[in-house]
Amino acid sequence: MSVVVTGATGQLGRLVVENLLQRGIPARDITAAGRDTTKIKDLADRGVRVRAIDYDDPATLDDAFRGAARILLISASEVGQRVRQHGNAIDAAVRAGTGLLAYTSIANADTTTLRLAAEHQATEAALRASGLDYVLLRHSWYLENYTAQIPAILQQGSLAGSAGDGRVSAATRADYAAAAAAVLSSAVLSSAVLSSAVLSSAVLSSAVLGSDGQADGAGRVYELGGDQAFTLAEVAAEISAQAGQPVSYRDLPVEEYTRLLVSVGLPEPAAEIIADADGGLARGELYVGGGQLRQLIGRPTTTLHDAVAAALS
Ligand SMILES: NC(=O)c1ccc[n+]([C@@H]2O[C@H](COP(=O)([O-])OP(=O)(O)OC[C@H]3O[C@@H](n4cnc5c(N)ncnc54)[C@H](OP(=O)(O)O)[C@@H]3O)[C@@H](O)[C@H]2O)c1
Repeated sequence: MSVVVTGATGQLGRLVVENLLQRGIPARDITAAGRDTTKIKDLADRGVRVRAIDYDDPATLDDAFRGAARILLISASEVGQRVRQHGNAIDAAVRAGTGLLAYTSIANADTTTLRLAAEHQATEAALRASGLDYVLLRHSWYLENYTAQIPAILQQGSLAGSAGDGRVSAATRADYAAAAAAVLSSAVLSSAVLSSAVLSSAVLSSAVLGSDGQADGAGRVYELGGDQAFTLAEVAAEISAQAGQPVSYRDLPVEEYTRLLVSVGLPEPAAEIIADADGGLARGELYVGGGQLRQLIGRPTTTLHDAVAAALS
């Protein structure tokens, strides 16, 4: 069985590879793929197969995906290019005869109006049309979107946004990575079960089946987010309490927040996308209930308190 992780040179993908190794998937059965493979030389040194890929170069995808039983397609990072890039990856997975492709999509993709979501929705449609067995890992925000800003927030004494009193189900990259690894390795187990029939029914039910008893496979959708959703005012209060400094949440109209982001150096298209997403957060579009992340990783998700504490330490 071989598992390919794209985006493995990035933050989320590296965590997925580490998690697969921790789960006992042999290094030789894991392919870590990304553009700049110098970033994952340490994984190659540990026996992981490393392949350079570019979503814009199908030949590199064919090479990396050859013989892949499972692929995790981590969404690319160039907004505006991703429908074509993800389409190339899906086409390569079809050519490779891949048994299952998991894709990191966005929370509430069926209904969300976030501008950022359009490329994820198009990718999900391409997957449905591809004939591949697929799993959708729909992510809410990363907690690191906030914790990485802590030095700047403390300097300003405020966190700005357009989220009103909307609640976001943010979770750490590590928790999303653990969920992806659980899905990839349970799918591997699932195939092993079919070929060897050696696993007990207890292992089968806990490792292969979802909480609803449905096996991982075609069309399965997970809406993933942290156990406790919070407002941005609560983020500010948590940082303030732990840092021992006053920090307030400054709520701005979307247009004003866009101008603020541009004034601190963001390109206008990126500023518009981020402020628009905060508007979606205000409408509850990044809220995820149901506890599917917790169920997949088999433990409570990392709290805002613990994520802030880790960032400050
Ligand atoms: N939900 C959220 O809050 C949130 C926040 C940020 C990002 N995201 C999404 O989640 C993804 C993973 O997050 P992350 O933090 O791990 O991002 P990251 O550290 O920036 O990693 C992005 C990965 O995508 C790879 N990549 C980008 N363009 C590529 C291309 N044309 N061909 C092949 N590989 C390409 C990068 O390869 P190289 O590094 O080798 O170039 C890298 O491995 C992001 O790409 C983005 O779509 C979600």
